[in-house]
Amino acid sequence: MAVLEILAAAAALTLLLYYYMTSTADFFAKRDIPHLPQTPLVGSSLDALLSRRFRGQVWREWYDHAKAHGHKFYGVFVGRRPTLFVCDVDMVKTILVKDFQHVMDRGTYYDRKREPLSANLFNIGGGEWKALRSKLTPTFTSGKMKSMFYLVRACTDELERYLGAEVLKGGDVEMAEVMGKFSTDVIASCAFGVEANALKDPDSEFRSMGRKVVEVDPLRAIVNMVAETMPWLRPLLPMPLLRPDVKDFFIRTFNENVEYRERQKVARHDFIDLLIQLKNDKTAGLEDAVLPAQAFVFYLAGFETSSAATSTCLVELAHHPDIQERLRDEVDRVLAKHGGITYEALHDMTYMEQCIEETMRLYPALAGLPRVVTRDYQLPGESPRAVLPAGTRVIIPTYAIHCDPEFYPDPMRFDPERFTEENKRSRPHYAYLPFGEGPRICIGLRFAMMQMKTSLAMILSSYRVFPSPKSVYPARFEPKTFVTKLKGGNRLKITKR
Ligand code: HEM
Repeated sequence: MAVLEILAAAAALTLLLYYYMTSTADFFAKRDIPHLPQTPLVGSSLDALLSRRFRGQVWREWYDHAKAHGHKFYGVFVGRRPTLFVCDVDMVKTILVKDFQHVMDRGTYYDRKREPLSANLFNIGGGEWKALRSKLTPTFTSGKMKSMFYLVRACTDELERYLGAEVLKGGDVEMAEVMGKFSTDVIASCAFGVEANALKDPDSEFRSMGRKVVEVDPLRAIVNMVAETMPWLRPLLPMPLLRPDVKDFFIRTFNENVEYRERQKVARHDFIDLLIQLKNDKTAGLEDAVLPAQAFVFYLAGFETSSAATSTCLVELAHHPDIQERLRDEVDRVLAKHGGITYEALHDMTYMEQCIEETMRLYPALAGLPRVVTRDYQLPGESPRAVLPAGTRVIIPTYAIHCDPEFYPDPMRFDPERFTEENKRSRPHYAYLPFGEGPRICIGLRFAMMQMKTSLAMILSSYRVFPSPKSVYPARFEPKTFVTKLKGGNRLKITKR
């Protein structure tokens, strides 16, 4: 009898689970939105759900398929969760800018109480995001960038010493790691006010904490997958977003530096100074706990993205010696004009900008821009039934758009000519989204460009880069990371000029 009862209970539970997991299957059909079918538990792609393949590539296949059928949108399922996929650049603009009020947030998970560092500008939403964004925006003006330039420049000197020593050892370097150390030094200096010494010291605590932040162990991968498909379940899971040692390290480092500066009345004109000003501005109405979270997101959003773009750009330059020489000529000319690497000199490096832009086209830091509907949203120009309820996930597939031959003929070819002013004007503005777009565009864009250009100018003026026998080219993407990363790193051979 007991066995029968257990079997009956198990069957009822399985049925309930099955019902729950498939209860969204008609979500798009009910709204007259073209879509992929839902496989129970899996959604539209097991590869995407389990991160077995680079999600940018899976999205590219969906995008190409939907576009070939003339769809502006496409419904897909991540597990049971309906997700609207945008496949038309005019619609991209509508969603990111015109109808921003309906699709304002990213829907990424945060928990203010248990995880104060997660309540940062990237994750928070609604009115709270709006207020914080407007307070932080003045921190990133070009005037502020100029006053921080000396800190970036100092880290570049250290990078030059580091690479010089590597050349003496044979010059076979893992560029992703070197640039990771460099941007750790830069952001630690500007956002936390400390010398991380990631380039000088192989055991730098800041660097190892940075590695731990982005590490995805198998348990965390499962928790992330649950959060993706059933966001309501995430707060009930005991696993913290950040390991406790990492969380304590960043909060302690930030607070110690704020105290030190206030006591000693030191000013460095960096992000932390600007955050202290906000803290002391009683009209800003910010709680003290909000500030370390912002320094943390500058670090997190800044260090891997900038370092990956710079090292990948160097990989492309190594495989395109003609482009590398042309860029070196520009660097030589501009540095001779300005008497070295100055803030003003960076603005004259237009071909360098083209090379960076083309790198970020082929290797965007985020394969897609996540958004979530914040207010019920009638899809413009569609059936009156095409109303997305608040909470629906939306994805703008950056990588797929960047690889669309309509905008970029022969899309897999690295060609900085695509980014001359004339060529940029010849295609839709929203066909290029490496920093996102609209009111939630990357706030650190100027800082990132300053940092990338400064380091590239130094490297090209002092060194030459070549493919390493160990390098894999064309490079492939790691499937599991949130910020795109190349499989096997970015190995290069570097020689003194
Ligand atoms: C090459 C370097 C970088 C790339 C490619 C990059 C890319 C991005 C992208 C794609 C977004 C999402 C935009 C959207 O959803 O529309 C974003 C947001 C953000 N980025 Fe960056 N980023 C870089 C560097 C930085 C740096 C250096 C910082 C800070 C110092 C930073 C801070 C942020 C923040 C705070 C957000 C959230 C903005 C908001 O929601 O208001 N990023 N970034």
